[in-house]
This record gives sequence, structure tokens and C-alpha cells, in this order.
Amino acid sequence: MVICLAMSDAIRLIRPDDWHLHLRDGEVLWRTVPDAARCFARALVMPNLEPPVATTALARSYRERILEVAHGLDFEPLMTLYLSEQTPVSEIALACESGLIQAVKWYPAGITTGAAAGVRRTESIYPVLEAMQEEGMILSVHAESPLPEVDAFDREQHFIEQELSCVLRDFPSLRIVVEHISTACAVDFVRTGPPTLAATITAHHLLHNRNALLGGDLRAHYFCRPLLKREEDRCALVAAATGTDRKFFLGTYSAPHRRGDKESACGCAGCYTAPAALELYAIVFEQAGVLDRLEDFASRRGADFYGLPQNTKYMELRRQRWQLPATLDMAGEELVPLAAGEVLAWRAEPLV
Ligand code: DOR
Repeated sequence: MVICLAMSDAIRLIRPDDWHLHLRDGEVLWRTVPDAARCFARALVMPNLEPPVATTALARSYRERILEVAHGLDFEPLMTLYLSEQTPVSEIALACESGLIQAVKWYPAGITTGAAAGVRRTESIYPVLEAMQEEGMILSVHAESPLPEVDAFDREQHFIEQELSCVLRDFPSLRIVVEHISTACAVDFVRTGPPTLAATITAHHLLHNRNALLGGDLRAHYFCRPLLKREEDRCALVAAATGTDRKFFLGTYSAPHRRGDKESACGCAGCYTAPAALELYAIVFEQAGVLDRLEDFASRRGADFYGLPQNTKYMELRRQRWQLPATLDMAGEELVPLAAGEVLAWRAEPLV
């Protein structure tokens, strides 16, 4: 709903959920959990820790560590399991019975941070996918090919064509979320696919094309996997997010790395968007002239796809200029958020 205030515009929206988030572990949680909880009622927490969150028991204890930090905050972590070639089929029943696991995450081996133990051969996970289809467990996919002969900018398309299309064909009732899509090809694949298929879209892939990373000097804080792509890809993502197709919903994919680990000869992939995530999405929806659709994208479609109730509390986004800090503290180290030092036009506040 859009309401007009005397001096400024404001939007009231159902408290959103983040359907793709990296919280990490230990002391770092004191940074990441409050940043996420400021706007999001729930978040789907990625399992790419060292060691990976590969069993229900590990997910349960990770969830408890998150909840200790979230004490007093209005925030519920929704857990995921890390899929590997060693995942026993029996783990899927355990995950479902626990009521804590919302999705199983497929990382192609070596594709990104914490993906070393991921999947090499797609056929090897077929028995687990069979069990997931039976139990109604969602498959969350990092859809990029890790093959060295595939160009870094073509990895998403290659994986969709060579791997994901086969899984879609072979498991017609398995619900699949293609995470952080970055290309027009992925938008098309999801849009024209069955209703069992959906996708999350990040604020950074909506706001930037690859020129932000490579168009001038090399800018490490725009480096993530999948890489930012061409302008036509960005436009296709914006059309999908701001359109009416309910298969596309919010997943920030906020992924913190210490400043020194990003600004390095071998820099880590990941953009930290959590401190201003909703405000960054608001820029995109406002530019598209459909700010009134932000609530559907951020607060309704994801919950509906996951079969969870929509949140009952509300947020307000006010047109109010504020400056994002240039750096943040993360367990005693510097962390540079995306849009560091920039002045943003919207500010989100909880509504009580
Ligand atoms: O850029 C990325 N960062 N891509 C991923 O898939 C993982 C993430 C992280 O965990 O840092």
C-alpha cells in the first residue's frame, strides 16, 4: 500500500523475508544477525560454513547459535542443508521431521566460497533428489558451471542448459529455486518453466551491470558469484522483479567478507548488502515506477512459494536521506558494505 505523508512519501509493507542469506558463524553473527533482523522477519540461512552444515544435527546447533544472538530481535532463521555426493537419502526424512529445514542447497563443487565439498556429478545426487521430491523438500541451487573451460560470464547459462534442465525434466514435482539469477537466460528459463520453478534476485544484480566491477578500475566490492552481467541482463532481471510474475522474489544473498579478504590479490566473492537491503531494492522499484509492487516481491511471493504464512507485522519505508557508513565493524575487523558511504533515498523502520 502507498500512502502520502505531508512532507514525504512512505510505503507500508508486510515485514519482508530474505530467501537467501549468508550469516556465517561465531562472533561474526553479532554483525550479520542484527543487520538482517532490522528489516527481515525470516531469512533462509545458507549452509556454506567450514565444515558445511550438511546434517540436520549441524543445522539444529547452528540455528541455536543464531538464535542466541537474535535474542530480543524479531527474527527467525530458516535453515538449509548442504548437499554433497555423500548426503545419505535418509537425511532428507530427518530434515523434514525436524521442521527446521526449509531447503537443501546444491553447490556445484568448487564454484564459490565454501563449495569445495559440493556436487561434481549431477547423477550422484539423483537418489537424494528423488527423496526430496517425495517429501516436498525444496532444492535451492547455485546455478553455475564450475568447469574450467566454461567462460566465467557463461557459467549460469551453461549450467541451466546442461544440468538444471535435466533435473527439471527428471523431477517434475520437485520444487526448485534458482538462486541469485544474473542473466536474461535464467529469467527466461524460470518464466517459461513449470510452477515448481522459482528464482531469487539480489539488489546488486538489479542495480549494477558488470561495468561496476570492471568498467573502470577493478572494484572488488562489486565482485560476487555469479558475476554481474551485461546491461541487457540487468534489464531482464529488473523486468522480472518488478513485474507481476510471482516466481521471482527477494533473496539478498548478502555475503560478508573482511575488507582485507576482498581488497586483495585473490579477493573473495560476495557483496554485503544486509545493512540497506530493502532500501536498495526500493531504488529499483521506484525507478521502474512500481514501488507498490515491492511488497509482493519482498513479503509475499517467497513465503507463498515456500508454503509458509506471510508475516503479520509491518514495516514502513520512508523517503528519507541517510548515509550508509563507509565501513562497519565485524568481529573487530573492517567490513565494507555495498554502497558504502552513499546517501540513500529511502529508510526502512519497523512499524509497531
Ligand atoms: O559471491 C558469493 N559469495 N557467491 C556465493 O555463492 C557465496 C558467497 C559467500 O558465501 O561469500
